[in-house]
Amino acid sequence: MVERTFVVLKPDAVRRKLIGKIIERFENKGLEIVEMKMLKIDRELAEKYYGEHKGKDFYENLINFITSGRVVAMVVEGENAISVVRKMIGKTNPAEAEPGTIRGDFGLKLPENVIHASDSKESAEREIKLFFGE
Ligand code: PPS
Repeated sequence: MVERTFVVLKPDAVRRKLIGKIIERFENKGLEIVEMKMLKIDRELAEKYYGEHKGKDFYENLINFITSGRVVAMVVEGENAISVVRKMIGKTNPAEAEPGTIRGDFGLKLPENVIHASDSKESAEREIKLFFGE
């Protein structure tokens, strides 16, 4: 089934000039970038985006990190895009992410894990609406 997923290249990826290398992987895979913008996430948007993690011990760290610089937000489309992209990004902690995955190849420690991608159809819909509207 053709799906759309939501991806954020986090402030560490932008600072380290990894945007092109990461987008190239999605295009090589056959996925299509159908929406894309660069922005600085403010605290209000960050709290909506990460609302489900409020109260967790890493929450403040996560909000401070995601608002620390510009990000690239995009919508990626393709057959089974949600699970395919999650596989391509690898485990949350880049120290545990397998080599060959984006976090495994470009990240070293939390919270700098380079990239976010939706983990389900429901989160994809919610996140796309939050960043790109209807
Ligand atoms: S949970 O508890 O299983 O729901 O958490 P998880 O899905 O693994 O992670 C939720 C988001 O928080 C980020 N994260 C962290 N940030 C900073 N420090 C620590 N220790 C940490 N652990 C998890 C993680 O990258 C997820 O954000 P996204 O944007 O989805 O990558």
